[in-house]
Amino acid sequence: MCGIVAVTGYRKALPLLVEGLEKLEYRGYDSAGIAVIDSDNKKLVCHKAEGKLKNLKHKLDKKIISGSLGIGHTRWATHGKPVLRNAHPHCDWTKQVAVVQNGIIENYFELKTKLESEGIVFTSETDTEVIPHLIQKELNNLSNLNLENSGSTLLIAVRNVISDLEGAYALAVIWSGSPDSLVVARKQAPLIIGLGEGEFVCASDTPAITNITNTILPMEDDEMALLTPLGIEIYNSENERQYRNPISLRLSEQIVDKKHFKHYMLKEIYDQPQIAKNWIKQFLRNDESSLTSINYPFDIQFLKNIDQIQILACGTSRHAALVGSYLLEQYAGIPTNVFYASEFRYSPPPLSPNILTIGVTQSGETADTLAALNMEIKRRQSSGKESYKPNLIAITNRLDSSISRLVPNIIDISAGIEIGVAATKTFFGQLLSFYGLAITFAQIRKSKTHEEIDKMISNLIKIPPILEDLIISHNKISEELAHNFSNMKDVIFLGRGINYPIALEGALKLKEISYIHAAGYPAGEMKHGPIALLEKKVPVISIATPGNVFEKVISNAQEAKARDSYLVGIAPECEGTEIFDYLIPLPLIDEWISPLLTVVPMQLLSYHIAAHRGLDVDQPRNLAKSVTVE
Ligand code: M6R
Repeated sequence: MCGIVAVTGYRKALPLLVEGLEKLEYRGYDSAGIAVIDSDNKKLVCHKAEGKLKNLKHKLDKKIISGSLGIGHTRWATHGKPVLRNAHPHCDWTKQVAVVQNGIIENYFELKTKLESEGIVFTSETDTEVIPHLIQKELNNLSNLNLENSGSTLLIAVRNVISDLEGAYALAVIWSGSPDSLVVARKQAPLIIGLGEGEFVCASDTPAITNITNTILPMEDDEMALLTPLGIEIYNSENERQYRNPISLRLSEQIVDKKHFKHYMLKEIYDQPQIAKNWIKQFLRNDESSLTSINYPFDIQFLKNIDQIQILACGTSRHAALVGSYLLEQYAGIPTNVFYASEFRYSPPPLSPNILTIGVTQSGETADTLAALNMEIKRRQSSGKESYKPNLIAITNRLDSSISRLVPNIIDISAGIEIGVAATKTFFGQLLSFYGLAITFAQIRKSKTHEEIDKMISNLIKIPPILEDLIISHNKISEELAHNFSNMKDVIFLGRGINYPIALEGALKLKEISYIHAAGYPAGEMKHGPIALLEKKVPVISIATPGNVFEKVISNAQEAKARDSYLVGIAPECEGTEIFDYLIPLPLIDEWISPLLTVVPMQLLSYHIAAHRGLDVDQPRNLAKSVTVE
């Protein structure tokens, strides 16, 4: 989604901005631009280009732009097509103020209509463009006051303007009248300030600042800040100065190295065994005397009163939540519902006491998930009933994100920054967190015996080496199999029980990066409609792991075979699996932990199909890494 980087200091801004934007490319975008105040003539210089950042770099090639104050942006279209005129930064009619913005200004149309009636001509279809015009108008008004400090003047002008803006946004503003002042503001969209030596940087995501500093101050909602080479001033919505200590980025948030892999996605699939090792080390404990075998960074006493769980998430995180709900209900015996965060917000179930709400989001910034959690917190607080506590947990990969500020109890999956837009290793990390929660609830509710819990734990401990071997062998197999799939138009994924969400995830991965239509179904549901699609050109990928529903899945696969579909099985080599035209073999493992392995061929197959089709695997079209608009 849109990315912001802005800098003020002593070095030339342009290369720092371009470097920052390169680090934000993974978020997904369709145009890019920069604006710098040229230190020679104190004029605003603005350059933009459609498409990838390389187009902007090409435009900037050989341009000498001095000036150490600037803003940059990668845009993911919401209002107006992804064309040059809509790319950020946007300037006011006098070309003195430039603004980059993430998020959506909901009342822009009304503001625009008013500005147009005053004779201001708009050059884009964006919601953003109202902001620089409004700021310029404020600056004109403030000029009568003859304020001494131009930075403070800009700060006041921006404050006055944002009090009229509705929506969720993060923005950065520069003005040629104050050639070293940067004003930034945040409302429900991420923005962090990086503290360098003699320079300050602001960005929507940490990778964009790591070329300058590893010391950050995340901004809170409704805060704005003035950054100059001499320091920063942060203010809350009441215009009170805010003071707080900076924090250091963890190493995993600083390193985004592709190593020898062709794409980040492949590297991130290969990262998974290490994530399992880290999780085992961090979360599994040997302390017999404790309440549970899982090591949480928060007090879990409140979980003892919980008798129901609701999970809010989107996309891949929702699929992890579905595996989680299976574990929580079937293993730990606690009723659990999973909601699309975007639906929950507008049609939540009736309030009930003793419910635990879990938000799942790798980025910690997904607007739908944050809004749903916010709504749930507020409605519980305002219910007036003491028993309706907002018992909350969030599972995220980004401790520095908005969800970490919203929710008191965080399970950090510590997977390291994920660059590929298609989530892989973060999904895996989310699954592990759900295994931890299922064990915890099984212990609290005594729904499983010590022996059963020990068995689950020892099975989880065995995962890393099995996974290492599996990734190596499945990588080869998937690369080979990808050739058969590259001309397909539709693919069906089937799974049952705990592996049904893995079928959904397989279909989502394939759609996202290869642009092949795919759908996942519970295998037993196929005969109730989707079977009509089956024919030679529609392959069926079935997950069949020995356990509760193995024979059923094999029978469902037979039904597909009878309709001439090419059948791929993700299953162990055992009786029944000879039915598959192509077998991606699995080791014989306990069904409870099977999703941790069955997801791997899903990830690798989609990866190789997309790579074989020559597509941009890490930055698929139209998608964004963190979806910060509703
Ligand atoms: O950051 P989140 O986990 O909240 O993101 C939710 C979805 O936008 C995300 O999972 C999306 O579906 C991915 N592109 C999946 O690969």
